[in-house]
Amino acid sequence: MKGIILAGGSGTRLYPLTRVTSKQLLPVYDKPMIHYPLSVLMLAGLREILVISTPEELPRFRALLGDGSAYGIRLDYAPQPTPAGLAQAFLIGEAFLDGDDAAMVLGDNLFYGAGLTAMLEAAAANRGRATVFGYAVEDPTRFGVVEFDDDGRVVSVEEKPKEPKSDYALTGLYFFDRRAPAFAKELAPSARGELEIVDLMRKYLERGELDVKLLGRGYSWLDCGTMDDLLDAAEFVRMIERRQGIKISSPEEIAYRRGWISREELLRDAEGQGKSQYGAYLRRVAQERFAPGGPSRPQGRKAGQP
Ligand code: DAU
Repeated sequence: MKGIILAGGSGTRLYPLTRVTSKQLLPVYDKPMIHYPLSVLMLAGLREILVISTPEELPRFRALLGDGSAYGIRLDYAPQPTPAGLAQAFLIGEAFLDGDDAAMVLGDNLFYGAGLTAMLEAAAANRGRATVFGYAVEDPTRFGVVEFDDDGRVVSVEEKPKEPKSDYALTGLYFFDRRAPAFAKELAPSARGELEIVDLMRKYLERGELDVKLLGRGYSWLDCGTMDDLLDAAEFVRMIERRQGIKISSPEEIAYRRGWISREELLRDAEGQGKSQYGAYLRRVAQERFAPGGPSRPQGRKAGQP
């Protein structure tokens, strides 16, 4: 399976912040926003990832993330000339996917929670079907919404319905199979002129091949669509990181713990971060006695001790 990060769009809702830069490059506390969705795909085990953005912004993403070797992965880049809808990503990405199964995450979505990695790996392993995620929200009219019947089966998916049939928003994370580009070709633009991601999901739903996993209370899902969302996300990350002394969504750390980069490479990445707190954190991870792999244990304690 390969991954796509969709990080384009006009970003006008965040003007003037996004007048001269891309929304997905804005900071969410201590990292560029795109580090969060990139980390999600890496946690799912994906090592070939396509970044899609506007022709103007694409060079900046490339300057930030490079060819992916710092993270032990391969990154490719492709432009989206106009924001013609989320499902268009699978047309733009068709050559890159080259017949592989495809996951996509929106460049402004942040996921966090215990068990996330196992859930992502299970979605990636769910071959020949589609897996998407539902999350209970206060105002579902702002999102794609999924409807279930009394037996918990998915009945419908709708984009920003005026009268939502449930409180479950569809998050911006989609695991499809190799048919995604072919299905995307069959879609017609919606009334707002976009190739809609819910229409692509419907292709799987019609065939009884759409699985919707609900993310319960133990998970946090945030997007950064508005100024308040952006500040909420930053405060969330800051609070957890300061309390626990960890970093949420550090692609270098994920790569190291998965064994995709060596300790030497991690230390080199840390050097490249200058005198920042982020660089210091990567050095600390490199010095852990129990890394890589598994949950990190506090230094100074022996395995098995509480
Ligand atoms: O965040 C989850 C929601 O994301 C889902 O619940 C919705 O079903 C899904 O349509 C999407 O809703 P948004 O209102 O966030 O969609 P928006 O048009 O703002 O696009 C989402 C991101 O994708 C945004 O950061 C811009 C980028 N984008 C959007 C379009 C339409 C692109 O890069 N290219 C595009 O063509």
